[in-house]
Amino acid sequence: MTAYNFDEIIDRTGHNSAKWSAVDDGCLPMWVADMDFRSPPSAIKAMVERARHGVFGYTLNPPKLKEVVVERMERLYNWRITPDDVLFSPGLVLGLCATGRGFGAPGDAVLIQTPVYGPFFKAATSNQKFSLSIDMQYVADGKHHFHYENDYNAFEEAASKPQTSIHLQCNPQNPAGFMYARAELERIGEICLKHKLLIVADEIHSDLILEGTHIPIATLSEEIAQNTLTMIAPSKTYNLAGMGCSVLIAQNKEIRETMAAALQGISAHVNIMGYEAAYGAYSGGNEWLRQLLVYLKENRDFAIDYIRRHMPLIKTTVPTSTYLLWMDMRDLPIEGDLIDFCHHSAGIAPSPGTFFGEAGKGFVRLNFGCPRATLETGLKRLRAAVEQLALTV
Ligand SMILES: Cc1ncc(COP(=O)(O)O)c(C=O)c1O
Repeated sequence: MTAYNFDEIIDRTGHNSAKWSAVDDGCLPMWVADMDFRSPPSAIKAMVERARHGVFGYTLNPPKLKEVVVERMERLYNWRITPDDVLFSPGLVLGLCATGRGFGAPGDAVLIQTPVYGPFFKAATSNQKFSLSIDMQYVADGKHHFHYENDYNAFEEAASKPQTSIHLQCNPQNPAGFMYARAELERIGEICLKHKLLIVADEIHSDLILEGTHIPIATLSEEIAQNTLTMIAPSKTYNLAGMGCSVLIAQNKEIRETMAAALQGISAHVNIMGYEAAYGAYSGGNEWLRQLLVYLKENRDFAIDYIRRHMPLIKTTVPTSTYLLWMDMRDLPIEGDLIDFCHHSAGIAPSPGTFFGEAGKGFVRLNFGCPRATLETGLKRLRAAVEQLALTV
């Protein structure tokens, strides 16, 4: 069996990588959710073989990719969908924004729980709607960690407003890295059905489970399945974000047709290589993914342990999914801007917490989807800057 080498440092400079180009020279990028690992060989092989054909005219949705998605949902979640339930889009953010375009009316509210992935806000604001944010409740777990809990009363109050027509859900949750439990999903699903909110479930991180189980909300009941548009992609899982191929699943024909219409005219089709990469990854990348998850979990544990021991004023989540660590920096005696401190004093570039809404003020999100040596360098840099802070106060 091939052992994949996630310790390999691959130079990404000179390749126009968004992650590596957007930071100052010498600053270590630990922000946007892409990993510094090579994609699985099966994805690369599929693209190379297709490239050799040399003719790249317009393409249809590949039925074999739909079939592999159907098989995957059944294998992972016992979720029975059909190839007809599957649509594709070049990106999931596009899918979120097209949702705002296709469903509800101008002036409607899109209900989200914050802190949450920044483009969730845009799904509303780019479509003459507004986002109605409910802050999740921050709960401390001892001195070093915290998690979030749902404020169901606030959620239901917001859901019951007449103009609220869509709930965008992020599960597994970015930036906090947890999966919603069955009982939580049931409660949310019930409130959405009661107040007639379409559920749009962004489940892009659902393959990146470090411990525990992911439950797609659409698997809870037939009623919820008929009221849900689920979005997944191979892009986070197999590090294929630049290939632009994501998967939309709607078992309800009307939702599917509305979504297809909303994408039309604003969206290019998925390109040939995106389809090939997705098929190659989904069909041949299982063992690669299994090994990746072992590596990511060790990275998570390494980062958490390091922060606990050397930077006890920083509190973190303990993510059970994703490769993202959400860090509460509010107890550090930083004068001035937190991200300036990270960039200029520490020489690392995590994602600013405010990208995830007001509730992210004083937080940063650190991407640990990188070789352990890179992660260690980043943490050591942060530690040196934090220790320097202690000397100056
Ligand atoms: C929750 C979530 N949704 C969507 C995306 C982006 O999807 P895409 O690159 O397909 O637009 C990300 C990327 O980090 C994400 O975390």
